[in-house]
Amino acid sequence: MPNRVYIFDTTLRDGEQSPGCSMTVPEKLRLARKLVELGVDILEAGFPIASEGDFEAVDAVSREFSWVQVAALARANTPDVERAAASLKHARRPRIHTFIATSEIHLQYKLKKSQQQVLDEAVAAVELARQYTDDVEFSAEDATRTEPGYLEQISRAVVAAGARTVNLPDTVGYSVPEEYGALIRRMVQVLGDSAIVSVHCHDDLGLATANSIAAVQAGARQIECTINGIGERAGNASLEEIVMAFKTRRDKLPYETKIVTEHIYSTSQLLAQTITFGPQPNKAIVGDNAFAHEAGIHQDGYLKERTTYEIIDPHTVGVPETKLVLGKHSGRHALHKRAEDLGFQLGKEELDALYLTFTALADRKKGVGNEEIVCLIREVVGETAAAAND
Ligand code: KIV
Ligand code: ZN
Repeated sequence: MPNRVYIFDTTLRDGEQSPGCSMTVPEKLRLARKLVELGVDILEAGFPIASEGDFEAVDAVSREFSWVQVAALARANTPDVERAAASLKHARRPRIHTFIATSEIHLQYKLKKSQQQVLDEAVAAVELARQYTDDVEFSAEDATRTEPGYLEQISRAVVAAGARTVNLPDTVGYSVPEEYGALIRRMVQVLGDSAIVSVHCHDDLGLATANSIAAVQAGARQIECTINGIGERAGNASLEEIVMAFKTRRDKLPYETKIVTEHIYSTSQLLAQTITFGPQPNKAIVGDNAFAHEAGIHQDGYLKERTTYEIIDPHTVGVPETKLVLGKHSGRHALHKRAEDLGFQLGKEELDALYLTFTALADRKKGVGNEEIVCLIREVVGETAAAAND
């Protein structure tokens, strides 16, 4: 299927390696179960050489979810690759994901190695990994700041050595969509059918989702991403944003994933309960306000026809319902509907009186809850009339 895009979830690896996100082995297993239910294609469960816990997590995830492709990260050296291979010993579909930095800035200051040395180490790591599994992915760390000619050279070399997936990360979130798309298009042409081109975008400029989508339009067929966009620094591309962009804008983005979108919200919630923070309220798709309307004009339009102000039906992503938040920007229509939902049938004059007291209260507060609305109704229509409605 030419438009099938593989979702490589790295919540348990890149996501976990950011502040406030570390997870125990049982926590990773619980999330892995949810990610499998969500339908991710490849589950990166850890960086086994980094800690005993990461080793155990990869081992446990690959034993329990034997039918899933499980990936383990390794730098391009023998101990890392062997440790990754050992952690995947019980996996039925193991992937070794080996990486080395390729940009001049990383070669000069971090690795202190020449381009030829790095290329030789990358090839050796891929060859070694291939002794353990057919499924080897190579990542050129900081690909977007790498000299393109060298990126071509190293990509061809690792594919000749047996890599099936070549990942070109925007490690520091520096790229802009047009530029990243052009780089990916060039590499897809260079590699042809010999490997899947993968993308891995960080969000330092808030462009990780846009860059990932531009890359898919240019021919990439694997996206590395995380739930709630967690990950190093500003995070990784957010799985839910990319998948819902494909689903919502099929006219422009006719790409297929295997994600069962109805599980998106519960996966996001489980992650939030596991780590130390949840998505910000205005986070696309999974934030508390993603399906909340407060402005009167919006509430009125929404109540007449949902699609006036909602491009996604919240049930599609497993959000139980749209929230009409009653605050100082809300209108009569929404207040009337809330009163009805709370069991009160108000006449025009009662509604007018209620609206006056409501706006006076809402002016002083950030939002007005159901209990307060019931109190206002009782004040306005009187205990007896309210009781008749009970
Ligand atoms: O951001 C990055 O370059 C990475 C690689 C290890 C894939 O996380
Ligand atoms: Zn990363």
